[in-house]
Amino acid sequence: MAKLSIRDVDLRGKRVFMRVDFNVPLDESGKITDDTRIRASLPTIKLATERGARLILASHLGRPKGKFNPKMTLRPAAVRLGELLGKPVKFAEDCVGPEAEQAANGLADGDVLLLENVRFHPEEEKNDSGFAQRLAALGEVYVMDAFGSAHRAHASTEAVAHLLQPAVAGLLMERELEYLSKAIHSPEHPVVAIVGGAKVSDKIDLLKNFLNQADTILVGGAMAYTFLKAQGAQTGESRVESEKLGLAKDLLEEAARRNVALKLPKDHVVAEKIDAGAAAETVTAIPPGRMGVDIGPATRAEYTEWIKGAKTIVWNGPMGVFEIPQFAAGTLAVAKAIAESSAISIVGGGDSVAAVKKAGLADKISHISTGGGASLEFLSGIKLPGVEALTDRL
Ligand code: 3PG
Repeated sequence: MAKLSIRDVDLRGKRVFMRVDFNVPLDESGKITDDTRIRASLPTIKLATERGARLILASHLGRPKGKFNPKMTLRPAAVRLGELLGKPVKFAEDCVGPEAEQAANGLADGDVLLLENVRFHPEEEKNDSGFAQRLAALGEVYVMDAFGSAHRAHASTEAVAHLLQPAVAGLLMERELEYLSKAIHSPEHPVVAIVGGAKVSDKIDLLKNFLNQADTILVGGAMAYTFLKAQGAQTGESRVESEKLGLAKDLLEEAARRNVALKLPKDHVVAEKIDAGAAAETVTAIPPGRMGVDIGPATRAEYTEWIKGAKTIVWNGPMGVFEIPQFAAGTLAVAKAIAESSAISIVGGGDSVAAVKKAGLADKISHISTGGGASLEFLSGIKLPGVEALTDRL
């Protein structure tokens, strides 16, 4: 890796300021409903504490818009982390200022402190250098392990890295970059990219980047209807981005020029509306009054065959409205085909990750990214500010 790693630096007795992504979902009572992101940071946290670091963890949770919000406190994350580590984790009610400083200075080797939500301060999202200085004052070494937030140029992900040197990558960050970089820079072919989700406009850069590297692109989700309409197909009431029809046509032409098989669904599950009570039927041409809500059985079978032949698989975005059981078969079929494949498989994006977990197939995937937006941007070829700011390996 081009950036220094936590494994390269001496941590004993040092105050190590580590940015993690503990942006976990909480229920109404403040209980964490999915602790995947906390678990994903454990290897880095354990490595740091085993090597005698005095660990100060910082994270955001939700979008509190620069103000304290009791629904977005990180206190439950401190408790959960303590349970997972099997030792207490201290908590500071603010991420900067006298209380945080006192808590940081009072740490012994191997202790862990979690700071309150950095987004309770408006300066965080402004990447404010004064605020970054206050964060930097807490530590002596900076570790960036928040891959899920690395696409944000915020004070705790970007500005602080310039102030607190060395600024090194944590183990989760390294693992994410290793898998995702290989997939876009030096994958084993054939590469099958599966792209779904609601809008073509969200995935333009991703599709363009995959045209450089993928052998096959399987398209699903509502974005498929924009492509189909661009080809002159009947799309009924399906969600079509009319202003993106030209772009969809260009992408199809570019794929043909480059010999990339860009596959669109050939049959569809349709319904009158997106509703848990709506009846589903299968069609090859979407009639008026119906909208596409999933890929049909023939498409599932075809996509499964492509996936079987792959050596590298990258999946971002569901094939249909998988939250509704009668519209979930396409997404589940793709998840299953990926799980059964022996290819290197990478799944990114909140919905596809949720689908893999829902199907109980998470442990059959080579790499499930902890970053939704971050993995999408990275795979789209966009440089992540939270990675760029880290110290280069000489
Ligand atoms: C995420 O959940 O994708 C990250 O934690 C980033 O959160 P954000 O989109 O609120 O910046």
